[in-house]
Parts: sequence; structure tokens; C-alpha cells
Amino acid sequence: MKKILVTGGCGYIGSHTIVDLIENGYEVISIDNNSRSSSDILTGVESITGTQVKNYVVDLCNYDDTKQVFKENPDIVGIIHFAAYKSVGESVGNPLMYFDNNLASLVNILKCTEEFNISNFVFSSSCTVYGNPDEIPVTESTPQKPGESPYGITKQMGEQIITETIKVDNIQTILLRYFNPVGAHPSILIGETPIGKPANLVPAITQTAIGKLPAMQVHGNDYPTRDGSCLRDYIHICDIAHAHTLALNYLIDKKNKTNCTVFNLGTGNGYTVLEVIKTFEKVTGQRLNYTIGPRRNGDVVAIYANRDKATKELGWNPQYTLEDMMHTAWQWELKLKNELN
Ligand code: WQD
Repeated sequence: MKKILVTGGCGYIGSHTIVDLIENGYEVISIDNNSRSSSDILTGVESITGTQVKNYVVDLCNYDDTKQVFKENPDIVGIIHFAAYKSVGESVGNPLMYFDNNLASLVNILKCTEEFNISNFVFSSSCTVYGNPDEIPVTESTPQKPGESPYGITKQMGEQIITETIKVDNIQTILLRYFNPVGAHPSILIGETPIGKPANLVPAITQTAIGKLPAMQVHGNDYPTRDGSCLRDYIHICDIAHAHTLALNYLIDKKNKTNCTVFNLGTGNGYTVLEVIKTFEKVTGQRLNYTIGPRRNGDVVAIYANRDKATKELGWNPQYTLEDMMHTAWQWELKLKNELN
């Protein structure tokens, strides 16, 4: 079996991607320092796949420790790099922590990719790189606006570090720009486990509905959208995960037409915050306790993907609906509550 290194493998997207990789015949190892995650999630991965995944508790900002993992695994054929801090709000208050962590870790993993002659590299990017687009839906060639937050800037800089590196290196790369990953694996054995008060919409909805949070706020309903609330392209975490397997297959099968290909990972449908809440209430029968509050700094008004390129070139077709996203997110929240009782 081909061995893949997943960095951030104990995270939300990383763990779901590991499941999909294993189900598609890959052997997987993880590097995750568990600063924002727990390796407990790999127990869920094992329950789903029947496969134990080794996680190296290593800080990717430590080059020597990172290099040691590669020395112990000379048969790695591809890397998917997820490991990064990802909170927009936190990054505004801690820019240097974000630039240090997200960029130093990327540089180290790229150095090892070079040194150990690994030729397949998939980077976890984000629709944040588009900023507030002039036109929607966005395609991969939509011009990038200045980053709206240090988090978004680390994704833009991360893409630039990669594109400059591969000018002098024969690493075949794919940049995957996620829109808004939500929901949980249908087995409800793994899902999103935000640390502290969730900044993202769907965990805020499910934690409010289950009573973990007393209420939630809709950050503004005076935007120029169909109902005044912000519009996003929500995409099920399992659809995102499968796109990574397809991206790796694409690289390993040497289908990369240039040595760096970008793909949008969104459904191609935009939903407003209020529409997501209404769908959640319809699917779960819960009444959500929310109020309309002020706008949130840094929020993009509206963005959703043109995903034709990923469909055409990767053969990627998202399977899950917004209803599925709300259903699995709610079932996972209920599971977490039952585990606490
Ligand atoms: C969505 C909408 C909020 C919470 C960011 C990153 C992106 C990705 C996901 C990492 C916005 C509104 C939210 C709440 C609300 N990051 N909202 N009340 O900001 O689109 O994307 O997180 O993978 O790269 O940019 O996601 O879920 O935070 O917000 O009204 O309690 O929900 O204002 O309009 P966002 P989000």
C-alpha cells in the first residue's frame, strides 16, 4: 500500500480525510502535536476503518523532530498538509502566533518533502484567500483580494511559498481551497470538536440547540443578500475528505498538467446564515434560540464556489445536502452530550 503522511491528522478535516484514504487503499501516518486536538479521534477512525493509525506527537515548527519522522518512514509517497491554526477571530488578536505557527510549520514540511524526494504534496488552503470577491461564484482564477485576517493571509502566503518552492523543485502540488466544511461522518464516530466557545456557525448552532451555549447571535442581517445575513458555501466534511483522496490519486497517477493545480472545494450553492438556521430547525425539530446582533469584523458578505474544475478534473461530485450536514452535525452534538453523561 502507498503510505501517506497527513499532518494535523487528529483534526476535524484531517481525521475525516484519513478515513477516506484508508477506505481507498492507502496506508496513513499522522503528525499532530495535539495542541488543538486529541489523538482520541483516531480511536473513532479505527472504529470506522478497522485500522490503527500512528500519530507522531511532533511540533512541525521543530525541524529536527519533524525530520526524524521522515527518517523513520522512508516509504512516504505523498503528504497532505492540514496542520495549522484556523480561527479567523483568534488570528486578529494574535497575528505573530499565526504567522509563526502556520508558516514555519509549512516551511519545515516542505524542506523535508525536498530532502526525502517526496513528489506529491496536497495543501489545505481556503476560500478565505479570495477575500470579499467582486463577483460570485468564484473560480480558481478569481483575483485574490487582500487577506481579511492574519489567518487568511497565512493561507495566501502559504500558497505563495509553495508556488515559489516548486519553481526550483520537482514537487507536484495541489492547493485545495475549502469553502465551509461542516457536519460529521455518518457513523457519528468522528466529528468536529471545537475547543472553547465555537467561532464557526454550525458548532455554534448545535451547541446552542443542545444547551451548551445559552443563545447565539446572527452576526448582522443588514448585508446586501437575499435576507440580509451573510452567504456561504457549506460543504459536508466527508465530501471535503474524499476530494483529498481524489487529489492524491490525480498526483500519483501523474495527471497534474502543471506542477501546481488549484481546486475550489464547495458545493456551488450558497446559503445564508438564516437559511442554515431554518434548515437546522426543520431537520432536527429543534427551535434555535438566536438573536440578531452586530456585524462581525472581517466577515465576507457573500461567497460561494464555482466547482466545475474539481468535478471535471478530479471527478469530484459532492454527495451530501445541506439537510445531511445539519443532521450529522446534530447527531454528533447529541453523541458528545451522551458521552459526557
Ligand atoms: C460563517 C457565517 C458568520 C457564528 C471561516 C474561515 C474559513 C474556515 C471556516 C477554517 C459568517 C456567521 C458565525 C455565529 C454567526 N476556516 N456566524 N453567528 O468565517 O465563513 O469561515 O471559518 O477551515 O477559512 O474563513 O465561517 O462559520 O465562522 O461563519 O452569525 O455564532 O456565520 O458571521 O457570516 P467563515 P464561520
